[in-house]
Amino acid sequence: MQNPVVDAESFALPEDTEDRVIAPEAQLGEQYDLSLRPERLQDYIGQTEIKENLEVFIGAAKKRGHALDHVLLSGPPGLGKTTLANIFAREMEVQLRSTSGPVIERQGDLAAILTNLEPGSILFIDEIHRMNRVVEEVLYGAMEDFTLDIIIGEGPGARTVKIDLPHFTLVGATTRAGLLSSPLRDRFGIQFRLNFYEPEELKTIVLRAAALLGIEIMEEASLELGRRARGTPRIANRLLKRCRDFADMETAGIITLTLVENSLAKMRIDLEGLDQMDRHILETIIEKFNGGPVGLNTLSAAVSEEKDTIEDVYEPFLLLKGFLQRTPRGRIATKLAYEHFGISTPPESQANFF
Ligand code: ADE
Repeated sequence: MQNPVVDAESFALPEDTEDRVIAPEAQLGEQYDLSLRPERLQDYIGQTEIKENLEVFIGAAKKRGHALDHVLLSGPPGLGKTTLANIFAREMEVQLRSTSGPVIERQGDLAAILTNLEPGSILFIDEIHRMNRVVEEVLYGAMEDFTLDIIIGEGPGARTVKIDLPHFTLVGATTRAGLLSSPLRDRFGIQFRLNFYEPEELKTIVLRAAALLGIEIMEEASLELGRRARGTPRIANRLLKRCRDFADMETAGIITLTLVENSLAKMRIDLEGLDQMDRHILETIIEKFNGGPVGLNTLSAAVSEEKDTIEDVYEPFLLLKGFLQRTPRGRIATKLAYEHFGISTPPESQANFF
């Protein structure tokens, strides 16, 4: 495919635009405490297979003195995609620039970012599936042979100049790899889908965060947090901080198992880790739609939540837990979901269960 041509007029970013398009990490994406993020691969807990492969790919790139190949990270929010991008920069000892798909509005914005990269640096684009297709085309040539075509001048006198870019590594993060165009997806030499974490892994993450924050927590309490954190480190750390609030007010600062159980009950997080919206979605399917199937548009209107949020944030965990099924005709609450709520399955919906 031909490189798109970027108009030189739109090429240089005014100062204020650059601030918006390339922002310090803290202003983008994950908002939780930066101090809790592991900075090295060896401190990163979980995602064992991915980690082992990354050790090889990073080690080999360093040994050859090359930039790391482009990396696509996909998976539900909060599983550590941004953290990994930060780790790549640390491990490769290169500059990290971060931005996000929807804020890059024009080809010129992206061209300005690319031409200002230092050799070897990592460009992290969060929510890369939300990048405008016209802007995205600039990436094709940039990723493939580190070049960019720009137009100089106007009208019949206009000419195209091919400029060389510094070799860089694009790290794209997405909650929905399926929404990426195939030309873009195919240009990532390394592709990983992050999985939900096991309770034991989350327990270790909670213990690490507690140590960093100076929080006293009992081992069984950290495992309970791990069990109820929807398989997600960001949620585990958030729950840890809220339990610390309860502990500071109630038990002289120590987080015990009982304190976790009581605190989570007050925050309406149930024994499976489902929160109010998870339950609202399932109960709506069961009570208003007789267990389903119900289409995403209808469900979104019924629970007053964005379709994208239902698909990206809530459904992956409900699917993992086996409470929800996606079928061509819509979403179905499973037998397990009925059992979880102590509701007996209506005879007419039995046909839905496979
Ligand atoms: N904090 C958040 N995610 C983490 C992870 N995967 N390992 C260690 N600490 C974390």
